[in-house]
Amino acid sequence: MIYLKTDEEIELLRENNILVSRTLAEVGRHIRPGVTTKELDKIAEDFIRSNGATPSCLGYEGYPAATCISVNEQVVHGIPSDKIVIKEGDIVSVDLCTLMKGFNGDSAYTFAVGEIGDDVRRLLEVTKEALYRGTAQAKAGNRVGDISAAVQDYVESFGYGVVRELEGHGLGRKMHEDPGVPNYGARGRGPLLREGMVICIEPMITMGSRAVVFERDGWTVRTRDRKPAAHYEFAVAIRKDGPDVLTDFGIIEDAIKKA
Ligand code: MF3
Ligand code: CO
Repeated sequence: MIYLKTDEEIELLRENNILVSRTLAEVGRHIRPGVTTKELDKIAEDFIRSNGATPSCLGYEGYPAATCISVNEQVVHGIPSDKIVIKEGDIVSVDLCTLMKGFNGDSAYTFAVGEIGDDVRRLLEVTKEALYRGTAQAKAGNRVGDISAAVQDYVESFGYGVVRELEGHGLGRKMHEDPGVPNYGARGRGPLLREGMVICIEPMITMGSRAVVFERDGWTVRTRDRKPAAHYEFAVAIRKDGPDVLTDFGIIEDAIKKA
C-alpha cells in the first residue's frame, strides 16, 4: 500500500530529514582516526534526542543502536561497536533515522577519513552521482524503474557492482513503506510515481563483485570479496514538476569542509 502525503505531511518529513542531515554533519565532524563507531553512535543519539526526536533505528526489528555505521567492506547495517576503531584511509557509511511529529527521516552518507586512495574516492563520487541521477528521475509520471535504471546504468558503466539484496523504499509514518526502490531494473517498469509519494533512494555500490554476505550478528552486510562499498541515501518527495529532495547534503559537506 502506497500512502500519498499532503503538503503538510511532506513538511514534517522535511523537518525530520533536515534533522537527519544535521545529525550526519555532527557525526561527520567527529569522524577521525581513533574514534570508535560506538562513540559516533552516542554522538548521533544524543544529538537526535536533544533536538526533540527519537532515533527510529533503535529497536527497529530488534536493531540495537541509533545508527548503522559501516566501514570499508561493510555495505550497510553495521552495528556500532567499541571494537571498531576508525583509521586513516577508511570510508565510513553512516545511515540514520529519526522519528518526530509522527514521521520519519532516513538518509545516509559515506565519509572519507583523511587521505583515501584515488580508486576509493572514485567509488564515492560515482555512488553519489548515481544517487543524483536516480533522483532526477523521481517525478510524477515516471516509474520506479526509471530511477533504478538510471542508477544501474551509470554505476555499471564504471565496472562497479550494484547490491541487489537491499533497496530503497517509501518513507512516512513508517520507516519502510511501499514501494520498494531497487537500484537495478528496467526503464518504464515498476510502480507509477505519483505526486505526494515520498521515497528513499539509496544506492549501495561495490568496488568489486556485487556479491554480499550477511554477517552472523544478524545485521551487518559486507562485500563477499571484502572490497569497499559506498552508500548514499536521499529522501525525496515526488512533485509534478520534479523531485523535491528532503535531505540536505549541503549541511554535511559544509561541516566536513570546515573540520
Ligand atoms: N536506513 C536503513 C534502511 O533503510 C534503516 C535501517 S535501520 C535498522 O534500511 F534498524 F534496520 F538498521
Ligand atoms: Co533507507
